[in-house]
Amino acid sequence: MKLSIIILAAGLGKRMNSDLPKVLHCLADKPLLQHVIDTALTLAPETIQVVYGHGGEQVRNSLINLPVQWVKQEQQLGTGHAVAQAIPNIANDNMVLVLYGDVPLINSITLKTLFSQTNGLNILTAKLNNPTGYGRIVRDDKNQVTSIVEEKDANDEIKSIQEINTGILATQANNLRNWLTKLDNNNSQEEYYLTDIVAMAVVDKQPIHTNIVNNIYEVMGVNNRLQLANLERYYQLQQVNNLMLAGVTIQDPNRLDIRGTVQIGYDTNIDINVILAGKISIGNRVKIGSNTVIKNAEIADDVEILSNCVIENVVIGAGCKIGPFARLRPETKLAERVHIGNFVEVKKSTVANNSKINHLSYIGDSEIGKNVNVGAGTITCNYDGAKKHKTIIKDEVFIGSDTQLIAPVTVETGATIGAGSTITTDVTADSLTLSRAKQKSIIGWQRPNKK
Ligand code: UD1
Ligand code: CA
Repeated sequence: MKLSIIILAAGLGKRMNSDLPKVLHCLADKPLLQHVIDTALTLAPETIQVVYGHGGEQVRNSLINLPVQWVKQEQQLGTGHAVAQAIPNIANDNMVLVLYGDVPLINSITLKTLFSQTNGLNILTAKLNNPTGYGRIVRDDKNQVTSIVEEKDANDEIKSIQEINTGILATQANNLRNWLTKLDNNNSQEEYYLTDIVAMAVVDKQPIHTNIVNNIYEVMGVNNRLQLANLERYYQLQQVNNLMLAGVTIQDPNRLDIRGTVQIGYDTNIDINVILAGKISIGNRVKIGSNTVIKNAEIADDVEILSNCVIENVVIGAGCKIGPFARLRPETKLAERVHIGNFVEVKKSTVANNSKINHLSYIGDSEIGKNVNVGAGTITCNYDGAKKHKTIIKDEVFIGSDTQLIAPVTVETGATIGAGSTITTDVTADSLTLSRAKQKSIIGWQRPNKK
C-alpha cells in the first residue's frame, strides 16, 4: 500500500518567545521540521505534505529545497482542520501517516510498525507518570479504545488516565477523508480536533489499534526552549553512546556534541568539549584534543589534533599532527605526516607529505611540496587588496623564520630562504636567497637622553 505523510507545522510556537517560527529552531544544528521530514523520507512515501500556517512563509522558504509539498492552513482552527487541508491531495487507497513538525525524534521503526496494520485506525500512544496536558486514551471494560478526550474537556476520572495520545496516527485516506468531513468544533477550545475521528471509527466499527511507544523522547514535542534543550541533550547522548559502542573512546559523553553526520573508526580518542559538525569522517587511532571544533572534514588514520583547534572543510592525511591552537580553513588539503603547529592559519592550500609549518604562520592560496620546512612567523601575502594570488613552494624548500612571500611567487625545489626575508620574485632551485639588509654596528652610539 502506498504511503502519504502529512506533517503538521502551522502552529505559532508562542512559548518559544522568538521571532523565528518554532519548527525552524534547531536540534543538533538542523531545524526541527527537517528532522521530521528526513525521517519521513526514510519511509519512501509517495508524497509528504507539510501544513504550514499564516506567517509560515519563512518556514517554507527555508526548507524549499526539500522534496515535499507545502499546504497552507490560513487559520489555525485545530489539528483536524489542519489535516483536512492536505487530504484532498492524497489518493483514496493510500495509507496516511500524520506527524508533527515540532516532534523531531520520532523513529522510523516505530512508524513502520504503526502503519503496517493497514485496516482501521492506528494510533501511537504513550504511558506517562504525569499525563497533564495531553489527550487521554479512553477505553471500555473490554479494553477497547472508545475515544480520545482532550485535557481541557476531561473530567477528573479521565484526567487520571495515564495513557496519552501522542497525536501520531495512521489510517487509510478514504476513512480519514470521510471522518474529517464530519468534524465539528463543539468543544471547550472551539477547535476541529483530529482526535474526534477515534469516536467516529468506533461508530463505523473500524478496529482501533494502539501502539505504545517505549521511548517517550520519540514523541516529545517542543513548546519552549527548555524542552528543546532537554531533547538536544538526549539526542547528543544517544549519538555519543553509539560511537562508544562502535569503538570510539569518549573522555566525557556529556562533553561531545555532534551536529551532523559522523563516521569514526576504532580506537579513536576524543577529549572533552569537542564539537563535530556537518559531514565528518575520522579514521582509526585518531586523537582529538579538548576544545576543538571540526566542521566538514575527512581525517585519516593516526592523525593527532591537539587542543583548541578550529578546522573547517579540510582533508587531513594519515599521521598528520595539528595544533594546539591551529586554524585550518576551507579547501585546505594536507597529505601525510604534515605538521601544523600553534598559531598557524592555513587557508585554501595544499601541503604535501612530511612538510612542517610549526609556529605562528599564515599560509593562504598556496601549494607546498614535500619535506618543506616553513619557519616561524612566515606569511604568504596572498591579497593585494583586490585579488588573491598564489604562492608555490616546491619540494625540500627551507624557509627561514619571519619571511614574507609576496604572491604570486614560486620558490623552486631545494631553495633556502634566509630568515627575515621579503620575497617578491621567484626563487631559483637550490639557491640561498636573502633579502634583508646587511647587519652593521655603529660603535659608541649614544641613546637619546630623557629630559
Ligand atoms: C494534540 C492532541 C492531543 C495530544 C497532543 C500531543 C488534538 C486535538 N489534540 O494536542 O490529544 O495529546 O497533541 O502533543 O489533536 N497544528 C496545526 N494547525 C492547527 C492546530 C495545530 O498545524 O490548526 C499543529 C501544531 O503546530 C502542533 C500540532 O498540530 O505541531 C499539535 O497542535 P497543538 O495545538 O499543540 O495540540 P495539543 O493541544 O497539544
Ligand atoms: Ca502540543
